[in-house]
Amino acid sequence: MPDNAKLKQARDAAARYGQDHLFNHLDGLASAEQDALVDQVLSVDFEQLAGLHRDLVTSQAGSASRETIEPLRATPWEDFSITERATLANQGMRALREGKVAAFLVAGGQGTRLGHNGPKGIFDIGLPSRKSLFQLQAERILRLSRQAGKTIPWYIMTSEENHADTTGFFKERRFFGLAERDIFFFKQGEMPVVDADGKVLLTSKGRLSMGPNGNGGCFLALAKSGALADMKKRGIEHVFFYSVDNALVRVCDPHFVGFAINQGKPAASKAVIKVQPEEKVGVLCLRNGKPSVLEYSEMTEEMIYSKTADGRYLYDSANIAMHLFTRSFLEAHAGASLPFHVAHKKIAYVDPAGNTVTPPAPNAYKFELFMFDLFPMAGEMAGLLVRREEEFAPVKNKDGVDSPASARALLLDLHHKWAVAAGVSEEELKGKLVEISPLASYGGEGINTALIRSQLGNPIIHVS
Ligand code: UTP
Repeated sequence: MPDNAKLKQARDAAARYGQDHLFNHLDGLASAEQDALVDQVLSVDFEQLAGLHRDLVTSQAGSASRETIEPLRATPWEDFSITERATLANQGMRALREGKVAAFLVAGGQGTRLGHNGPKGIFDIGLPSRKSLFQLQAERILRLSRQAGKTIPWYIMTSEENHADTTGFFKERRFFGLAERDIFFFKQGEMPVVDADGKVLLTSKGRLSMGPNGNGGCFLALAKSGALADMKKRGIEHVFFYSVDNALVRVCDPHFVGFAINQGKPAASKAVIKVQPEEKVGVLCLRNGKPSVLEYSEMTEEMIYSKTADGRYLYDSANIAMHLFTRSFLEAHAGASLPFHVAHKKIAYVDPAGNTVTPPAPNAYKFELFMFDLFPMAGEMAGLLVRREEEFAPVKNKDGVDSPASARALLLDLHHKWAVAAGVSEEELKGKLVEISPLASYGGEGINTALIRSQLGNPIIHVS
């Protein structure tokens, strides 16, 4: 049973913002549940929430701003000569060898489109090896750290919802061969979910409906959790940010690290060319002269179809959420206040009568921070254009585009190409699936053709 003063404080805080309904079912709750509800209410910033709801109501679509938008064109990796590429790769490898590079995974999302129960990283996209997304990433980190002769610390942001399942999965699988002391798990912040009137939804009679505060919540979480301090202690200077759901992600890619160091800017981002101009993705841009991401919905026809003399579309560099920030930049800006973005979603809730309602249409608003809203603070940012088929296989939807099936096909296709590039003929590989363990090759190097040939009698060739 909460003490009276605390209960009154929580009731008053809620009442001040028209959120009295949160206590509708208080009397029917067990004492511990009442305590938890009071604590949860006291943790909510209702003033902030009221402001966000006000903005939601007053902001109208198409409210044209007076911003100037210009393209931020990523430099194609192919534009560098062979010698330049080798120099950049060496520069990246040197930073890795000196222990200056860390991996940072944002894995606090809910993966609603995939419809998978639990953290997305434990998802098995159906590779012959049945490896999870986490395992693919872990093994790439392991391979790279062996090549560099130095540990690569891995920072993993989870959310309230998936933290225990994530850490449990890693423990169960013995951290995939990595040292436990070099993996740092921490949770991101949460935001309440509201209805169209700005009322916080109840997910049960004694719990507010909360969701992770968006992948942009990672900056504050980095600082609050002590992860940034840990990076400093370890001498980390460059932090590779990435999303959990790219089956081809080259974690801490030495080419990218070298490129970013060479450019000497506080931030760098990898991009791929849009599949077609109408593809609904955000592209790198300059907003009022500062690096930013231009969302598809913000683009005019002219922006979508304009081309430059070299034949490239003006806004062609799609943001694939792979960034490198310097630690000093993160230290300076981790606490910056970023704008919230709104998502309209279908979310079940408990109504005043105590019944759980599953709405047929979107009923709720979630407020989320985006990683790319930190870009402008960098002042300048470098973009590297890489090949989609080599680096980007997103797992977003259950089926079709950006699904486990498309990601699996992309990965197997790439590994088939690696085998061919190493000297195994197309004829030999006809009708076979090739999967090469990240422990055997990080990016197509060192392919053991004898090992592949020894398995030609099987439909599946697995190089581990
Ligand atoms: P998405 O924007 O694809 O969101 O996340 P999601 O939650 O995974 O999937 P949907 O939209 O519900 O289907 C891109 C990356 O950002 C992370 C995700 O885990 C993923 O790596 N993310 C997203 C967070 O870490 N926290 C969040 O609050 C949201």
